[in-house]
Amino acid sequence: MANHNTGSQSTAAFLRRTLVYLKPYRLLAATNILFSLLTIGFYFAFPQITQQIIDEAIEGKNIALLYPSVLVLLGAFLLCGISNSLRIIVNTRFGQQVIYDMRCEVYRKLQLLPVRYFDNRASGDIMTRVIEDVAAVHRVLVDGFERAATSLLSIVVIFVILLFKNVTLTMLALLPLTLSIAGAFWYTLTARSRYREQRKAIGDMNALLMDNLQGIRQIKTFVRQEHESRRFAAQAGELRRSTVNVMNVWALYSPAMTFAGSLGMVLVLWAGGPMVAEGKMSMGELVGFIFYLTLFYEPVGRIDGLNQMLQSARAAYDRVFDILDTEEEKPWSSASATLETPVRGEVRYEQVSFSYREGLPVLKHITLSAKPGETIAIAGPTGSGKTTLVNLLAAFYKPSSGRITIDGEDIACLHPDTLRNQISIVSQEPFLFNGTLRENILYGRPGASEEDMLKAARDANCHAFINSMPEGYASLVGERGVKLSTGEKQRISIARALLKNAPVLILDEATASVDTETEQLIQDALQRLMKNRTCFVIAHRLKTIRNADMILVMHHGEITERGSHRELMERDGIYAKLCMIGDAGLDD
Ligand SMILES: Nc1ncnc2c1ncn2[C@@H]1O[C@H](COP(=O)(O)OP(=O)(O)OP(=O)(O)O)[C@@H](O)[C@H]1O
Ligand SMILES: [Mg+2]
Repeated sequence: MANHNTGSQSTAAFLRRTLVYLKPYRLLAATNILFSLLTIGFYFAFPQITQQIIDEAIEGKNIALLYPSVLVLLGAFLLCGISNSLRIIVNTRFGQQVIYDMRCEVYRKLQLLPVRYFDNRASGDIMTRVIEDVAAVHRVLVDGFERAATSLLSIVVIFVILLFKNVTLTMLALLPLTLSIAGAFWYTLTARSRYREQRKAIGDMNALLMDNLQGIRQIKTFVRQEHESRRFAAQAGELRRSTVNVMNVWALYSPAMTFAGSLGMVLVLWAGGPMVAEGKMSMGELVGFIFYLTLFYEPVGRIDGLNQMLQSARAAYDRVFDILDTEEEKPWSSASATLETPVRGEVRYEQVSFSYREGLPVLKHITLSAKPGETIAIAGPTGSGKTTLVNLLAAFYKPSSGRITIDGEDIACLHPDTLRNQISIVSQEPFLFNGTLRENILYGRPGASEEDMLKAARDANCHAFINSMPEGYASLVGERGVKLSTGEKQRISIARALLKNAPVLILDEATASVDTETEQLIQDALQRLMKNRTCFVIAHRLKTIRNADMILVMHHGEITERGSHRELMERDGIYAKLCMIGDAGLDD
């Protein structure tokens, strides 16, 4: 699933894949580079004018020449500032466009990944990928692009100017560059693993943070604040350690490269001094040369900095492309099929087996069939595989063998969206989105009319409690619906399913018990929801089970008993025992 090959991908492959994101913005990129070049170009006037001032105004003792030169210099600096300002504006627009595109693409893709992908990853880590890692990739793309283009160009231009001014000194100045190149190679080869560690540390820290924020009530009730603070400190420490590690190497590398540049400066002074003394070169020429030399080493240094960004981005890129490279959900079988609408809701399981992990079967040879409109109740001890059984129907996981059909079509041949459009799920732990009650109910069928929405709310017995809230249907439910009681959340999720009005219903009854009055309201709502649909009900309450057309009793992933309530009671097996002791919530 995760593509670990990216680990061995070269910088070239990285560039090839990421530059695609810049393509639509060629014009912005070109404008960006134009302003960068103008910024640098105006600055280039500085050494030349300085040379003139020294040679003509100062050495030539002609102070009158000073003023126009200074004015020109002032103008050049002003233009330099203006074009730099424009450069920043264009660069930001360019950068934000690219990051926006990539972020949206990563998010869109993320939603298409199979449930299994999310089972194996922490939400906080995935968040880090979408937010920070995308930004890190973009930074090198956009800034790097600008830096590389302008640096290379200015290196070439200044090199020509330097050659023009003095060939011997230019050759001397180039010597230390060999050191820089060797250093850059070494840095590139070793930097990757350090940056990876750092990015992983950020992901892990965010994962812990997110988990703890969701569990803040548990932390408080178990009075584990100290313990959690220590755990967080350990993760944050890991990030500190890896960042310090990255920067320590940089702290050696970067000044070493600057030193190589300074070495060139020393060489030029050492050889240039005598040239001025012997009259082969004017004072102003030497000073001008040295100024140009600093302008030469500066982009060389920037390319080194770019290398650092590039290595950091490659580590981030692996994490972003792990999402983009994971295969999205699609029909498991190559033989594609569609469902004829309206779907009648006939469901069959044929010898279905399944395991989350190799060698640990959770479902074994499940065979069952439900005619349209029938209610199948599933009972059994906790962990016996009830939720897993119904999750397979929604194609959240792929059976390891056997097949499931709906109206005779193998679900392996259906697109998951086609299938799920026909299924409503009221899950064991109702989940609401952080929005208004109206939005949460409309989630069942966006665009439904106000009357339909209100009818669903009434049928689900939530209209009364919603109306009693100060803001009614516009009340916010809080993250995951924290501002509502469990019984209220359950009824909202029933309303949502009523509005969706799918021919197949999966009802994973909540184990949490509610007071008898609420219980009655929920049962009532469920009766309406279950009418005229094929229902799979994981029942913890005897009332829901009694009227089922068929009751399946699961034990260790197998169906051990099946029949109506009466038949099973007569059989006096596990079911009868469960009913008697009121286990699995089967209290009457
Ligand atoms: N996403 C998952 N990854 C790995 N194992 C899982 C996953 N979900 C469930 N399991 C395991 O599969 C087994 C069956 O779980 P399942 O949720 O189907 O039980 P259940 O019958 O619904 O129990 P309950 O009555 O408590 O809801 C359990 O042993 C559980 O640990
Ligand atoms: Mg369950």
